[in-house]
Amino acid sequence: HGTSKINTKGHLEIGGCDTVELKETYGTPLYVVDEDLIRRRSREYMDAFRASGLSFQVAYASKAFCVMAMCRLAEEEGLSLDVVSEGELYTALQAGFPAHRIHFHGNNKTPFELEMAIDAGIGCFVVDNMVELHMLQSIAAEKKTTVNILLRVTPGVEAHTHEYISTGQIDSKFGFDIGNGSAFEAVGEAKHCTNLNLLGVHSHIGSQIFEVDGFQLAVERVANFAAKVKEELGILFQVVNLGGGFGIRYTEEDKPLHVADYVRAITDAVKKYFSLSYPKLPEIWVEPGRSIVGDSGTTLYTIGTSKDIPGVRKYVAVDGGMTDNPRPALYESKYEAMLANRAYDSNEETVSIAGKCCETGDMLIWDIELPTANPGDLLAVACTGAYNYAMASNYNRIPRPAVVFVKDGQSEVVVRRETLQDIVAYDVVPARMLKQPS
Ligand code: LLP
Repeated sequence: HGTSKINTKGHLEIGGCDTVELKETYGTPLYVVDEDLIRRRSREYMDAFRASGLSFQVAYASKAFCVMAMCRLAEEEGLSLDVVSEGELYTALQAGFPAHRIHFHGNNKTPFELEMAIDAGIGCFVVDNMVELHMLQSIAAEKKTTVNILLRVTPGVEAHTHEYISTGQIDSKFGFDIGNGSAFEAVGEAKHCTNLNLLGVHSHIGSQIFEVDGFQLAVERVANFAAKVKEELGILFQVVNLGGGFGIRYTEEDKPLHVADYVRAITDAVKKYFSLSYPKLPEIWVEPGRSIVGDSGTTLYTIGTSKDIPGVRKYVAVDGGMTDNPRPALYESKYEAMLANRAYDSNEETVSIAGKCCETGDMLIWDIELPTANPGDLLAVACTGAYNYAMASNYNRIPRPAVVFVKDGQSEVVVRRETLQDIVAYDVVPARMLKQPS
């Protein structure tokens, strides 16, 4: 991927940095992020939308990887930002991300989160349900201000990877159903909220999607809904947000399209279906997360012990695991890996990569071909840029790894490694239990 290559020492190099040297400098496990590749992916989105001729915003879904340096990078690339919690919002604001380009998502935003976001002057709230609609209206009224909103609708398209299911009414905790009239009702209700400015609607159909037909069907249903709203309520949507979910290649089983192809499929569908009823095409927003940062990340691990069960399986353990990448344990996600310090060595055996947690399910990769690995070898697992650091935990009181950005032969820490002091930093021992000095 990206700027990765094998150098003359036979080491994996990313962004011009030798991974063996990165290990010596920063230790392992280590998240290595190829900055140029994130920029390239961001530009693929921006360029494809420019080519469409439509007005647009590309909002990076920060849930995939939300740290201050990433927010800075997103701003530099002209992206907007999707946040779903006070923590992501705080991170963006601390990074100086322009508030008017922040969109706030979530099915249960707290009153505090709504106030914080209004006070910061964010660009748009994606309102998920009636309780939130009324709460936001009353808080905005109290503050004597008006805020922009989109209504999250569920178009009855549920996509996962290369399949989508089209249902009348889907069973989801998110949004207003188009199929049963609740979305229509919400638009009518929003119209009466004098402190809310309804910009349009939002729909998100799933994640790690490869095919374009689910997106196209979602556009068709949203366009039909928009036509009905226009006719019966006299309201025109200025903005239609089509969410994220564009797939990436983790292993050879995955066959994603290029970013430009997803964008073209969506913008063509918008032109096709909205021009039937709309005098002017709406502005199109999308929210890619994984496809902006996923393939830019590589996790480096040091190999430790192994256990060979003759005729059954060989386990090779690394110094991280489900604490830095819970996706295999949670979703049975597949990853590819290589020995980064002996990249030219040929594969000799089939092994399974185990983490170090005290849990049987803590496996990173099942049955991968590798050169025979020895303790101290460096394992690089690819495509860990999305939903890895973001979903990392301290299970077994394992400190979270550092994150470094690499570019043009330079490496910079963007998240420092947690220390053992960090691990106990929030612990409080009640005074009556304190150990008495002897
Ligand atoms: N917009 C909305 C409203 C979303 O719910 C999501 C993801 C996105 C955008 C970004 O989707 P992306 O482009 O990254 O697929 N933890 C899971 C993924 C959960 C995605 C949740 N929503 C994983 O590790 O695969």
